[in-house]
Amino acid sequence: MKLISASFFTTISGRQARAALGFMLPWNWGKIKRGAAVAELENFFKKMLGVKYAQTFYNARGALYHGLKAIGITSDDEVIIQAYTCVSVANAIIAVKAKPVYADISLTDLNLDPSKLESLITSKTKAIIVQHNFGLPADIRAIKAIADQHGLKLVEDCAHSLGAKYQGQPVGTFGEFSVFSFGRDKVISGVNGGLLVTNSPEVFNKLPKGLPLPKFWVILQNLRYPIIALKSFHTYYFLSLGKALIALSKKLKLIPEITSSAENQCLDASILNYNLPNCLALLILKELPELEKVNAHRQKLALLYQQKLNSDGFKVIQSNNNVNENIYLRCVALTANKKSLDDFLKKHGIIFGNWYDQTVAPKKASLSACQYVNGSCPNSELAADQTLNLPNHLNITLADAAKVIKLIQQWRKLQ
Ligand SMILES: Cc1ncc(COP(=O)(O)O)c(C=O)c1O
Repeated sequence: MKLISASFFTTISGRQARAALGFMLPWNWGKIKRGAAVAELENFFKKMLGVKYAQTFYNARGALYHGLKAIGITSDDEVIIQAYTCVSVANAIIAVKAKPVYADISLTDLNLDPSKLESLITSKTKAIIVQHNFGLPADIRAIKAIADQHGLKLVEDCAHSLGAKYQGQPVGTFGEFSVFSFGRDKVISGVNGGLLVTNSPEVFNKLPKGLPLPKFWVILQNLRYPIIALKSFHTYYFLSLGKALIALSKKLKLIPEITSSAENQCLDASILNYNLPNCLALLILKELPELEKVNAHRQKLALLYQQKLNSDGFKVIQSNNNVNENIYLRCVALTANKKSLDDFLKKHGIIFGNWYDQTVAPKKASLSACQYVNGSCPNSELAADQTLNLPNHLNITLADAAKVIKLIQQWRKLQ
């Protein structure tokens, strides 16, 4: 039986596994840490987005942290973010000693609701971070107008939205600076990787230029991931070999973790201070030619799910933005009956994704450490209770999607 999952192995490819394996060969060892790939990647994005400056980091959370420092965010400042977010965003704000202030989302597109912004702005507010959630661009023009009116810096978190546009303009080109992620669950993966882009020389010149690379064993963890993930994907249900392999690899720390337990408690800023190794930049460069194909596939399946499954008790999220400009990194549905559907589909080998099942995800993150007050953002809390992600990545075929649709329709009849 094939693993049909919205959240596991979303970006794996034989091409990437072979490239990662290539670095294990002695004659390629010299390319692991340093080489021309980092500059090549930065130049690629300058051209693609038409921006003046681009700088890579080991991850997007590091890019966000250093960007916030560069625009002068410091202790006692307040930074507004949407409540339906990832702990690494909150962490970057807390690491510059500022306070994250959570704005509620709209249940239409699960993005920051501009009408909720003004009441949160105080004399301490310095910036608004707009997260184009799950690949659906937020209402960036409305939010930018509010930011400009109050003299606030606008930052775009494009970790989920590489390749998306808002009214014809690429996301990542509206803010004072923007960050992109090449984490393993993102649009294009280098297992890890982050990028900051800006048109401001002041911001760019303030970014640290000599950060260290991650330790060699951490780079090796990254290189092992595509190889182990590919094997696990293909053998996931075969005597549960793949399932065991990935669990063991996590336990033995053969592969990197996504957020550490210290990060989930907002206690660890060390992960924010690394540069991108050459080998991970090369993995990203190898995948970038697939960008349009990957996004078109996700979009096609998301639209299929919307068309076939939308009903009163089951809402597949779409946005007011032009449909063909959304990239649907995750295709999210909201249903009050999530647990029953989840259990039903699991019996058929289908695993939904859980972005985001907590207002500041993942579930292991401490909401009090993230300074989120329960009850303060009701739409985000409702979305967290009802969310499930339908599988739509490149390893999911049209036939797989049809199977998911059929099973959901069967489940409905049983309700
Ligand atoms: C919205 C958002 N921003 C930033 C990040 C951080 O990305 P990275 O893993 O590259 O640090 C994530 C991580 O998943 C995220 O979901």
